[in-house]
This record gives sequence, C-alpha cells and structure tokens, in this order.
Amino acid sequence: MLIGIPAETLHEERRVAATPETVKKFVARGHTVRVQRGAGMHAGLSDEQYSTAGAELSDDTDALAAQLVLKVRAPTRTELTKLRSGTALVGMLDPFDADGIAGFARAGLSAFALEAAPRTSRAQSIDVLSSQANIAGYKAVVIAAERFQRIFPMLMTAAGTVKAARVFVLGVGVAGLQAIATARRLGAVVEASDVRPAVKEQVESLGAKFVDVPCETQEEQDAAQGQGGYARMMPESWLQRQKVEVANRVAAADIVITTALVPGRRAPVLVTEEMVKTMKPGSVVVDLAAAAGGNCPLTTPGQTISVHGVTIVGETNLPGLVATDASTLYSRNVLEFVRLLTGDDGNLRIDLEDDIIAACLIAHNGQEKRSDAKWK
Ligand code: NAI
Repeated sequence: MLIGIPAETLHEERRVAATPETVKKFVARGHTVRVQRGAGMHAGLSDEQYSTAGAELSDDTDALAAQLVLKVRAPTRTELTKLRSGTALVGMLDPFDADGIAGFARAGLSAFALEAAPRTSRAQSIDVLSSQANIAGYKAVVIAAERFQRIFPMLMTAAGTVKAARVFVLGVGVAGLQAIATARRLGAVVEASDVRPAVKEQVESLGAKFVDVPCETQEEQDAAQGQGGYARMMPESWLQRQKVEVANRVAAADIVITTALVPGRRAPVLVTEEMVKTMKPGSVVVDLAAAAGGNCPLTTPGQTISVHGVTIVGETNLPGLVATDASTLYSRNVLEFVRLLTGDDGNLRIDLEDDIIAACLIAHNGQEKRSDAKWK
C-alpha cells in the first residue's frame, strides 16, 4: 500500500506523523512510503534520514495522493482538496468537530480520529491523548520554571536559605501526573487536586499532597466516578466547595498548573480572576486547557500575558514545543493503529467489528460517523 506523510501546515505545528524509525517498519511490511520533503525538519528529522529508512521523497501533492495518509492534525481546506476520494486518513482529527467530520465525509475519505480510541489495555499503544499529554505536563512545568524568577528547590547556602517553590496542579490525569512528577524532580513542594478521588493514591505516590474535596451526596459521588476514566461535569454544590479549597491553595502557590478537561465540553473554570489577584507578584499560571476555553478566564489562547503581576501562559500546543519526542511517541501510536488497519496482505482492511477501529472512524463511504460514544 502507498502511505503518504505530508508536512504539517498549521501554524506552529512542528510534529510529524511518521519518523524514520516508523517508516522503516512500514517499508519492512511491504508498504511504499512517500514523505514530503522537509516534513520532519521541525522535529529534527532530515530528508536524508527518511531516505535512508526507505522512504520516497515527494512534494505535498504526491504525499496527499496516497491510499493511506498519516497526519498529526486535521487537514486544512487546501490539503483536503488534494486528498482523493477513498483515501484513508489517520490523525488527531478532532472527533467533536462536526464541520470537519462533514467535510471528510463529503470528500469521500475514510477518516480516523485517534483521540476517539477507547481507554482499554488493548488500545494503550495507540493512545495519542496519553502520549501527548505526558509531554504537555512535562513542558508546562519547564515553561513555568523558565518564567518564574525564583528556583524550585530549597537552597541552603552561606548567603542564606531560599525556600522551595510551591506548585499546585489542578486536574490529575496523564498531564497532571507528569506535571507533578516533573515539579517534584525539580525540588518543588507540590499539591494537587482532581474531581476523581481515585487519583489520591497516585498523587501521594509521587510525593505530592492531595487536596481533597469530599463528596457529600450520592449525585456528587456518581459524577466523581466519571465515565470510562474521564471526568463528568460535577454538581454545582461540589463545585462551590471546590472553589473555596482551590482559592486557598492558589493563594499559597507560586506556580499553578491547570489541566482540567471534560471531553467534548468547554473546560471548567477553576482559577478565577479574584483568585489570580490573591497570588504573589511573579507567580505563574500555565493553563493546559487553553485550547478548550481555559481553566482560568484570563487565559489568552496562544499567548503569555501578565495580569495582576501574574504571568499566565496560554500555550495551546505544548507537545508541539517538544516536537522530536512528541513525534516519536505519536508516530509509534500511528504505526500501531495502521497495523490494526491492514490485513496480512498489507491491504487496507476496515474491520468495523474491531472496537478500536469502529471508535476512531468518523467518516466512511460518504457518511459521517460521530464516534464520540466513549464520552457519552
Ligand atoms: P483529561 O485530559 O480528560 O482531564 C484531565 C483531568 O482533569 C482528569 O483527571 C479529570 O478528572 C480532571 N478534571 C476534570 N474536571 C475537573 C474539575 N472540575 N476539577 C478538577 N479536576 C477536573 O484526562 P486524561 O489525562 O486524558 O485521562 C483521564 C484518566 O483516564 C486517567 O487519569 C486515567 O485514569 C484514565 N486513562 C486510562 C487509560 C487506559 O486505561 N488505557 C489510558 C489513559 C488514561
């Protein structure tokens, strides 16, 4: 089968969907791989490395004309016009983007949004949300440390003692756990909170303190259980109590990292402007939910701003700032998914009985398939 790897064209998207390592594996399985010249450039991967791995180098038109096209982000309108009807398209295509899905159906594509894969053991190797969130959590702390005008660890010197930085992580999913681990490694004192009480143990095992907001009603308990590992919107009563707890922790923190997401919905507002006003000058907020509306209403997506003496980082593509490792992990996720998509003869085989393929399929045979069932 002919597999195409176009360069990503969205502004500031530095990742690439296949690396020389995965190209080599595709070629070993008998596929022909066509990589657009310069596709890996921003991830530190040269055309020469791709050629050595067995890829043909091409322009964008030829890469997009393949039978199977591997992307990081959804194609732009221009790219869409270059994709042929019947092409299988794999990427982080956004399973909640109704207009995008309609466009893929109209173009006659078989489109697979990897974010929609179920959170099962079998699907772990293709879990792009986890592989990219891990990197985002790490980078959030590194950016915070860079912006912060103090150091993270406690320092005892002849010139006196410097106190350890206090970091508060809100939302302890994959990104939050990595943020806690990274901040701890840098020597910070870390506190963290989440709607799901199940994460308390994980937080404590990383040497951080869990800020608990106990559930008081059955309704609150049911919502906190979440669904398929994901959070649901919590009842107003719980959110009010959480607000008091969060306000106390934010006021005491030097760095606040927010990662709270509810799939398919606007991110919950957790750090209000009033709370930001209580933070010490020079404090830093890194809002990983910036692309989903932000956990802080002051967050400006894509920008770093200073409000009430606090730096608020609204970077919307943190994995894209660590493009080499993010591409390495993402491309392995893609490779595993393509293995599911191809039969022993190397041809495309869209097996709708396979729960991972069925969940990721968002357009097929001219039909839209809203495959966000795992979040319902
Ligand atoms: P996510 O990115 O959707 O959300 C981030 C975090 O925000 C979650 O922990 C969520 O509970 C929290 N959150 C949402 N609303 C909140 C609020 N109002 N206040 C405080 N926190 C709030 O989650 P992510 O990282 O994609 O994963 C969620 C969970 O899924 C993981 O922690 C894990 O339990 C499970 N998972 C399972 C996998 C598997 O079985 N293969 C793989 C990856 C994750």
